[in-house]
Amino acid sequence: MIVFGGSNSVSLAWDVSKDIGAQLGKSEVKKFPDGEAYLRILSDVRNQDCAVIQSVRTNDHLVELLLFLDALRDQGAREVVAVLPYLAYSRQDKVFASGEALSAKTILKIIEELSSRIVTVNTHFMRGFGEGSFHRVRFTNLDAIPLLTSYLRPRMSHPMVIAPDAGSLGMAKYAAELMGCEFDHIKKKRISGSEVIIETKPLAVKGMDVLILDDIISTGGTIVKVADFVGEWKPKSINVACVHALFTNGLDIFRGKLDRIIATNTVESPISRVNVGPLIARELKRELG
Ligand code: R5P
Repeated sequence: MIVFGGSNSVSLAWDVSKDIGAQLGKSEVKKFPDGEAYLRILSDVRNQDCAVIQSVRTNDHLVELLLFLDALRDQGAREVVAVLPYLAYSRQDKVFASGEALSAKTILKIIEELSSRIVTVNTHFMRGFGEGSFHRVRFTNLDAIPLLTSYLRPRMSHPMVIAPDAGSLGMAKYAAELMGCEFDHIKKKRISGSEVIIETKPLAVKGMDVLILDDIISTGGTIVKVADFVGEWKPKSINVACVHALFTNGLDIFRGKLDRIIATNTVESPISRVNVGPLIARELKRELG
């Protein structure tokens, strides 16, 4: 197998290729003066199985991924696996208001068209793990939660997991099982893309090392609101973990509110403490048989 890294997953692709003993594919990626993407495959991929690892955070990352997948096929690659540690648009997984585009489905269908197989990590539109499908597109969803809980468990003496909303309750329950502790959730109401309100309910977190766990932190608005609320109930410490750290408002908004914040490296950030490379490597090894 030849592993290619898109421009947003260069070090992850390097890690994975080393782990599985695969060649790291060579490519040239640049921008034309008008902003359009240019991509050229430099490795010989004829009759080879290839994987492209690209965390899709922006539209540019998406276009680059699509060019990668199609160019590899054009160059005679046998199987082309699209590995998407983070997949943008995954939160628009329903038509919330009539007439809206179902973006997650649209993006996934285009990627499916150009690849033999899709691998995601804790993608928002699938709560379970392993083989799954979304609007008939099949994919394998990997699970980074045990990596996060293994990192945190030795660092928290009286852990308790708090889901920041009802949607994350299943994930909090699962993380609590892995950590051998209790869990609870907070009632959140989203007012807009950047504003949430907390609907009050007493929280029995006094003296506990609270872990607020979410799949994605985007603006950070949810975490700030939830951390302020949790703080009122006198926990021993407030810890935050997420799989995908987007931090569109930077990290400063959390200053003085948290004792610890960590994430995986599906999206590289200054708090990427947990490497999903071995998780992806294990999955690609399975592919190799
Ligand atoms: C939403 O359903 C997700 O699970 C996260 O709770 C959400 O993306 C967090 O967004 P933000 O950081 O902008 O509050």
